[in-house]
Amino acid sequence: MRKPLVAGNWKMNGSSASNKLLLDAILAQRDSFASVDVALFPPALYVQQVQSALTDTGLFWGTQNVSQFDSGAYTGEISATMLRDFGCQYVLIGHSERRCLYAELNLDQVFLDHIIAEKSEITVRHGITPIICIGESPEEHSMGRTEEMVARLMDILIAQQGVELLSKAVLAYEPVWAIGTGKTASPEWAQDVHSFMRQRVAKHDPKIAASLRILYGGSVKGNNAAPLFAKPDIDGGLIGGGSRDADEFVQICQAAA
Ligand code: G3P
Repeated sequence: MRKPLVAGNWKMNGSSASNKLLLDAILAQRDSFASVDVALFPPALYVQQVQSALTDTGLFWGTQNVSQFDSGAYTGEISATMLRDFGCQYVLIGHSERRCLYAELNLDQVFLDHIIAEKSEITVRHGITPIICIGESPEEHSMGRTEEMVARLMDILIAQQGVELLSKAVLAYEPVWAIGTGKTASPEWAQDVHSFMRQRVAKHDPKIAASLRILYGGSVKGNNAAPLFAKPDIDGGLIGGGSRDADEFVQICQAAA
């Protein structure tokens, strides 16, 4: 049985004051979703504030990116060892917004897949769980290339790091056309892609496939989360906009319970 996980990706939002109000409001309702794992991902500058607020509450935290390097002359980057310093249990890796906005657009997407595999490996090596984001662009969706695009990164992850990596990771299917658009994937569509992802892993190791948590992300809200999370291969959600409103986020967490 896979324990549901709801991850709140704050993206580049928040302030010390607004974060405190949000954290206090979420914690005040923690008992209503006690059966759900919850992880919050603030902008990196606020990770210590979130660590202070969530320590000993049963909620987890992490950052929205990590370097594939241990340390060195990588200006602006954050290492897995630093994440351990601040008690991070999870980290987002390969979010589409980082791929398309910060990946030097001339970089080949397959090359980026290999970097994501390296980031995932160093994260696991430091005892942190990567939430590895995978999803097709609007163009790829319209051309019916969803499974091809999803399989590409999964196959590179497994070929480069071994399927064992996925026993210590979480996958997140985040169709780019659903992120921030209000165009949530239908529960049926999301289930089909999640099932495809799980079967892709099962070809290598059925046990790892059965225990692998696969989250859905893309315009999840309090009023549409339940039918998504009710699907057998959807193990929770990766929430953007809905994670910055306490009542909305708590409603989503309750839907996963
Ligand atoms: O990482 C989650 C995010 O990409 C989804 O954003 O605003 O569509 O929930 P949103």
